Amino acid sequence: MRNKIVAGNWKMNKSLAEAQSLTAEIIGMVADEVKGNVKVVLCTPFPYLHPVKSQLGNNDRIAVGAQNCSEHESGAYTGETSAAMLASMNIPYVIIGHSERRQYFGEDGALLATKVDKALAHGLTPIFCCGEPLEIREAGTHEALVTKQVAESLFHLSAVALQKVVIAYEPVWAIGTGKTASSQQAQDMHALIRKHLASKYGAVAENISILYGGSVKADNAKELFACADVDGGLVGGASLKSREFVEIVKAI
Ligand code: 13P
Repeated sequence: MRNKIVAGNWKMNKSLAEAQSLTAEIIGMVADEVKGNVKVVLCTPFPYLHPVKSQLGNNDRIAVGAQNCSEHESGAYTGETSAAMLASMNIPYVIIGHSERRQYFGEDGALLATKVDKALAHGLTPIFCCGEPLEIREAGTHEALVTKQVAESLFHLSAVALQKVVIAYEPVWAIGTGKTASSQQAQDMHALIRKHLASKYGAVAENISILYGGSVKADNAKELFACADVDGGLVGGASLKSREFVEIVKAI
């Protein structure tokens, strides 16, 4: 059975005090809502990983995640954070290849393959993001682009390694725009990604959690999560409000 995951990507938002209040509220509300194989992940800015993790204590329903890691192991890379550092703090998840990293920091498929390797080498679960910009969707070449993104950063992995990866499909035109993909658009792309994985990895594809991201809200989460190949969500804006985020968690 695939894991169901609702991950909040806080991006570069909130002060420490605000982050701690949000965490406390989420802990309080999520306690009775998370069932069985559902995992909630809070992807905080780097400086808040430790305090938020401490606040979570040994909560087995909510985990913490980073939003990025370096492609380098260690050394003179001022301002960077390595996968080894995250592992040394027992951070279980790291987002890799978010479209904002691709767009604003020039991260390409080959670089992201290296980051995925670093994360896996240190026992972290990468949440690998893919997704097409609006002009690609309008040109009708979105399937080709997304399958290429998946292949160029993940297809060097062994089947055993791939099983440790979570994929997030986030159409760029739906991120922060309030314009979510329809459940049909999400399901079609998720099924395509799974078929693409199956073409290389066979039945292993059935075990990979594929999350949807892009304007997931309390009022559309249920419909999105009901899709056969949508195994949860990667939530931006709505993860910054405890009540809204917990409603999304409940929808799964
Ligand atoms: P929004 O939910 O704000 O559209 O952001 C999605 C996202 O980028 C999550 O990683």
